[in-house]
Formats: sequence, structure tokens, C-alpha cells
Amino acid sequence: MNEVLQNILTRRSVRKFKQEQIKDEELDLILKAGVYAPSGMNKQSWQFTVVQNKEKIESLAKVVREALGRDAGYNFYAPPTLIMLSNDKENTNGLADCSCALENIFLMANSLGIGSCWINQLKTICDEKEVRELLTSFGIPENHIVWGMASIGYPDGETKAHDRKDGIIKFVK
Ligand SMILES: Cc1cc2nc3c(=O)[nH]c(=O)nc-3n(C[C@H](O)[C@H](O)[C@H](O)COP(=O)(O)O)c2cc1C
Repeated sequence: MNEVLQNILTRRSVRKFKQEQIKDEELDLILKAGVYAPSGMNKQSWQFTVVQNKEKIESLAKVVREALGRDAGYNFYAPPTLIMLSNDKENTNGLADCSCALENIFLMANSLGIGSCWINQLKTICDEKEVRELLTSFGIPENHIVWGMASIGYPDGETKAHDRKDGIIKFVK
């Protein structure tokens, strides 16, 4: 099978990670794949913030739990690495650009046997005081929204594929 399609077909959202950290060489490839994603008008006004500190990931999960009223166990699945994709609020392609980068990240990770999952919860709460203070301490610009995050790590166990819906492709010839 075509290698790119094979990689796409075997990617899953992974929600259970080993605590062992991924290798720096693997992280470099994942980030390279991310920054080579397309961006509207080639603005590249995004920032990739990589958090590999367990306490800092937990402190982010805590402010998210508090802001959204999530249960005490919610922690982005406790990944060893969290990549936060943020973009300038004024960029109307901000979400689309970050989404392209995230999919590149997921696919590169999968090709290395590394699991990943989109974490969606930050985009509506970035300007809440406690959340913004923490984002600032992570070096995320004040004018940025975190549109999505990737939890990343070696998978702990297998994840089944979801069936895809039929009837969603239409041809006009
Ligand atoms: C925009 C978007 C937001 C998502 N948010 C979350 C999330 O916050 N938490 C989560 O566990 N999965 C999240 N996911 C992952 C989806 O649940 C997952 O892609 C879907 O169930 C299909 O499964 P698959 O990725 O294994 O093919 C998100 C995916 C997308 C594209």
C-alpha cells in the first residue's frame, strides 16, 4: 500500500500513554512535520509550545478543570509531552493553520510508533485570568489563542480504529 495512506489509516487517537519520555530526535521530527504544514497566506503566525514537565502539564490541566468544571481526573491523559498550537487572534486562518500543523504532528508521531490525541479544551478559555497567567508563564504571547494541543507519548496498549461513515463522498462529473 502507498506509505502515506498506510500511515493515515493506522493513526488513532491514543488516550493512554507510557510515562517514558519520547526521544529528542523523535520530537524534532514531529515538530519539523508540524512547522512544514501549510498556513493561509504563508503567515506562519503560530507558535508551537512544547511542555515536557509533568507538574506544568498538571498545572495547566488544573486551570482547565477549574475553568470548565471538569472532573478531578481530567489531565489530557497525562502525556509525557504536550504540544500547544497557538496563533494570533487576528489571524482569521488561525484555527485552520493550527489544525493543519496538528494533523502533521499526529501523522509524523504515528510513523514513529508514537501515539497522539487532539486536546480541544483551551480555545474558549485562554483569556480567563488564571489560564492566561499560566499561558504567559509558558511564553505564549498575550494575543494568541491556543486552538488545539497534542498529547504525545508512547501508546500504552492498543487502540481500535473507528469505522468511517458511508455516503460522505459525492462526485460531480
Ligand atoms: C477538532 C477536534 C477536537 C478533538 N478534541 C478531542 C478532545 O478534546 N479530547 C479527546 O480525547 N479527543 C479529541 N479529539 C479526537 C477525536 O475524538 C477523534 O479524532 C475521533 O474520535 C476519531 O478517532 P480517531 O482519531 O482514532 O480516528 C478531537 C479531534 C478533533 C479533530
